[in-house]
Amino acid sequence: MKILLTGGTGYIGSHTAVELLRGGHEVVLFDNLSNSKESVVAKIEEITGVRPEFEKGDLLDKAALSSLLSKHRLDAVVHFAGLKAVGESVSQPLLYYATNVGGTLNLLEAMREANVRTLVFSSSATVYGEKTAVPYDEKAMTGHSITNPYGETKHVIEEILQDVAASEPGWKIAILRYFNPVGNHPSGLIGEDPEGIPNNLMPLVMKVARGEIPELEIYGDDWETADGSGVRDFIHVVDLARGHIAALEKLTDGVQIYNLGTGAGRSVFEVIESYERLAGKKLPRRVVGRRPGDIGVVYAAVEKARDELGWATELTLDDAMRDTLKFIGQD
Ligand code: NAD
Ligand code: UFG
Repeated sequence: MKILLTGGTGYIGSHTAVELLRGGHEVVLFDNLSNSKESVVAKIEEITGVRPEFEKGDLLDKAALSSLLSKHRLDAVVHFAGLKAVGESVSQPLLYYATNVGGTLNLLEAMREANVRTLVFSSSATVYGEKTAVPYDEKAMTGHSITNPYGETKHVIEEILQDVAASEPGWKIAILRYFNPVGNHPSGLIGEDPEGIPNNLMPLVMKVARGEIPELEIYGDDWETADGSGVRDFIHVVDLARGHIAALEKLTDGVQIYNLGTGAGRSVFEVIESYERLAGKKLPRRVVGRRPGDIGVVYAAVEKARDELGWATELTLDDAMRDTLKFIGQD
């Protein structure tokens, strides 16, 4: 298959490109480089022996998307591109709706024009909202207690995709709801390397490990969990990338929705313990108050992806920490 990856030089896109190229597929990476670097293209070539095509461009440039889709004879699109910082989405909601929702509309229009109707979309566990019971099941109601504009954009896009698929035959769409991607490629060549100040746990652990920030703030040790810290479903990014291949291979008419997670919750203290054991050193940290809008425990029901896609995670939290240490040159 020839597959367009929007956001293809980003964290999850680049790992998915590697797995697709290794599976013998052709890929075209499209990205405006607002949160990634063009040097990722050479790193992907170093890992796979194949240089992916790269097209610099913006989702908001409809003409660029149309010419991209008419130029390449594509079999499918995997749509990663978008903005993902929760805090920034609260302060800049218009930017988030324009980029994530508006950008997706441009992409869908360009796909229709080019008669490409096969799409995998990067959604998020955030669409379930804070009132959902664990494990989060794909059938749980979505969109009812989302706490930020970023999450709203994912929910709105999911609704748009349902409407588009219902409007005409031919669409084959998989919505993948990611839980908490962590880790990097075991080669140490590509990984999570966000611009600016990160919000998420692992990029912050990496910054503390590199001495760029003095300590990790732990957002509460009074959650109703075994050790009092927050619990999440941390999925190795290589497992996550492989989930996209499974979804592409099993696409059927209409819209299918799958959680991509491990099915097990691990705590913030467990993440730190794994990191410290593999790094052989302590991670400076301090317990502070809970983060506004935070949730105690989140993990996925994974039976649907296992049964219908034949996909399940294989890598562990320790694998993710080992690969992170390699990526930051501390292995
Ligand atoms: P990322 O920021 O590393 O990758 C996104 C890429 O999109 C970046 O390379 C960025 O430069 C590009 N981009 C942004 N705006 C663009 C635009 N207007 N036009 C073209 N390119 C643009 O993020 P990621 O972690 O790889 O996330 C990929 C997708 O997965 C996103 O849609 C994100 O919302 C979703 N997701 C991520 C997580 C996570 O924790 N990483 C969790 C759930 C869902
Ligand atoms: N945490 C800390 N200190 C930090 C950062 C995080 O203790 O400095 C804790 C959080 O309280 C939480 C856990 O680490 O218990 C994970 O936090 P992240 O911010 O890494 O991830 P979240 O699960 O809170 O949220 C992220 C995205 C959401 C998305 C969700 C699932 O920000 O938009 O993953 O995809 F919905």
